[in-house]
Amino acid sequence: MSVKMYIGMFSKPSLSFTHATLLLIFTILLVSSLALVFAKSTSVPSRSTWDVIIYGGTPAAITAALQVKRMNKVVAIVCPETALGGLTTSGLGWTDSKNGAAIGGIAREFYSNIYEYYNTDSTTIWKHQTRKEYIKLNIGAQPGRAIDEDAKVQWTFEPSAAQHVFDKMISDEQIEVYRDQRLNREGGGVNKNGSKITQICTLSDRCFPAQQFIDASYEGDLMAAASIQYQVGRDSQTKYGESLAGISLDRRDNYANIDPYIKPGNSDSGLIHGLEKEITGPTPGSWEGSSDFIRLQSFNYRLCLTKLSSNSIPFEKPDNYNVSDYELLLRLYEANLTSGFTTQRMPNLKTDSNSKGPMSFDFVGGNFDVESNMTYSEASYSQRQKIFRHHKDYQMGLLYTITHNERIPEKERMKWAQFGLAKDEFVDTDNWPKQLYIREARRMQGMRILTEQDVEESAGYIGDSIVGLGSYSLDSHVVRRIVQNGQIYDEGGFYARKTDPYPLPYQIIVPKREDATNFLNPVTLSASHVAFGGVRMEPTYMVLGQSAGIAAVLAIEQEADVQDVHRDSLTRLMHLYQQNIGS
Ligand SMILES: *[C@@H]1O[C@H](CO)[C@@H](O)[C@H](O)[C@H]1NC(C)=O
Ligand SMILES: *[C@@H]1O[C@H](CO)[C@@H](O)[C@H](O)[C@H]1NC(C)=O
Ligand SMILES: *[C@@H]1O[C@H](CO)[C@@H](O)[C@H](O)[C@H]1NC(C)=O
Ligand SMILES: *[C@@H]1O[C@H](CO)[C@@H](O)[C@H](O)[C@H]1NC(C)=O
Repeated sequence: MSVKMYIGMFSKPSLSFTHATLLLIFTILLVSSLALVFAKSTSVPSRSTWDVIIYGGTPAAITAALQVKRMNKVVAIVCPETALGGLTTSGLGWTDSKNGAAIGGIAREFYSNIYEYYNTDSTTIWKHQTRKEYIKLNIGAQPGRAIDEDAKVQWTFEPSAAQHVFDKMISDEQIEVYRDQRLNREGGGVNKNGSKITQICTLSDRCFPAQQFIDASYEGDLMAAASIQYQVGRDSQTKYGESLAGISLDRRDNYANIDPYIKPGNSDSGLIHGLEKEITGPTPGSWEGSSDFIRLQSFNYRLCLTKLSSNSIPFEKPDNYNVSDYELLLRLYEANLTSGFTTQRMPNLKTDSNSKGPMSFDFVGGNFDVESNMTYSEASYSQRQKIFRHHKDYQMGLLYTITHNERIPEKERMKWAQFGLAKDEFVDTDNWPKQLYIREARRMQGMRILTEQDVEESAGYIGDSIVGLGSYSLDSHVVRRIVQNGQIYDEGGFYARKTDPYPLPYQIIVPKREDATNFLNPVTLSASHVAFGGVRMEPTYMVLGQSAGIAAVLAIEQEADVQDVHRDSLTRLMHLYQQNIGS
């Protein structure tokens, strides 16, 4: 089937907001007596088993839970976080999809609920600008116009708006949520009988038995604790025959011949901060395209900034600031290479600010340590806390440097100092996002592994169901910076424009049968590092989360292993609930 046909199937949005609301009111009336029994169970469990347990707080966890509930099964979200919504509620308002038509189902409900949230003149919603003023900016967001009046969806939003909308969807449909529940990853955290997971237990000694489990965390902690096969890092070019795979130096002169040594010109003085190592002579022949199982593409916080002084908090120096950490940045500015950060315009004069240029928000090298063989994916909870802290310090220090250091041209300092952290966002966490942007951690090795070819050629998947559409370019942020013969290079980044949506088969969210027969994985799914670069986007996670919810319920109803869920029923329900996805 051609990509055009997939798109054709989707032009209809699924439930409209009003329909969904009516349906909800109706449902709430019907189940209100039951609800009384269960609604308050977020602190004290009133049941001893569930049909489906979902681990993690990402948007995929939310869509999965809503779907299971709508199919009348007993479901709960168990998550280590206190707030739900992952990056969607933590700064990423610049929706990552190149085609809004590829987003259907509950994901689309979310973006239409965002539209409804902002579709008002109320000054409690539009505190710092009017809706008209925002529309006048004529912002072309990635999936389409920022506010699409015809489709009644909105693709740009403040973190607090996304939080409001998700929280309302969760409470309207009375989804049970157990917060602050970290999976016990040490042993005893996941009980199995053969290849069947029977229950998961958290560090607070609570256990959640269920028939089906969905890992919707960014890390894949449940998958790992359940001994399901996965991989971390980068595949070699030969493994799946992928042109973008493996170690690869970016040969473009991104660093304008900047001297990499602490004492310029003196290689004995060592490399300045942020450069991993120096290779002298030619690049080793076996090097390019080879695998790397430690290093991850870089992470950062997506910051919500504003220039509106009455709502802005100036950038401050972090406690353990060391200016030598930013020597590369200072040398970049001295070579007239400015970078700063992006300023995608969200409502109310705020931004979703991301990394931009050779040294910016991305903390290159901040999520692994080769010497101690540490990678964020495998790191303990306490190591991860340190990684979060380092990322925050790094990014705060960078902002402080570009707004205060005298080696930065005054004009540039003034330009960036106009911004500050939005005072009315993330009010519980010092205006700093709650969630680090974990672009990639583990990836399952499931029934089928999605690869670069699958994305490029939109392969047919005979005998399988299509459970989502990828709609983003293949995109890996830089993994590290290295020096070769005195010249600095980025390593590991790629961006391959791919604008046509591509089908995602069910088998990529299903583990191998020997690993688990009642487990689904819509986030740390089964893909090569290259293919994951296009799938790893919030709206795609939402779509796949909903699909995992459908499949989990089918597995229960059909008394089938997840591997054997009847594909014709699955495809039928995809049409029913997501409307845009066919097989
Ligand atoms: C494990 O599963 C088998 C087969 O379904 C069942 O007979 C057995 O009772 C289970 N064992 C436990 C300890 O639950
Ligand atoms: C800053 O970092 C440099 C290089 O790592 C180190 O030599 C110096 O002692 C540090 N300064 C402080 C105050 O920690
Ligand atoms: C950077 O720009 C300034 C002002 O245009 C110029 O004086 C200086 O020579 C430039 N420096 C480099 C390294 O190109
Ligand atoms: C490094 O860590 C990985 C898991 O992250 C492990 O598989 C590997 O054996 C470790 N290597 C060494 C040398 O310890």
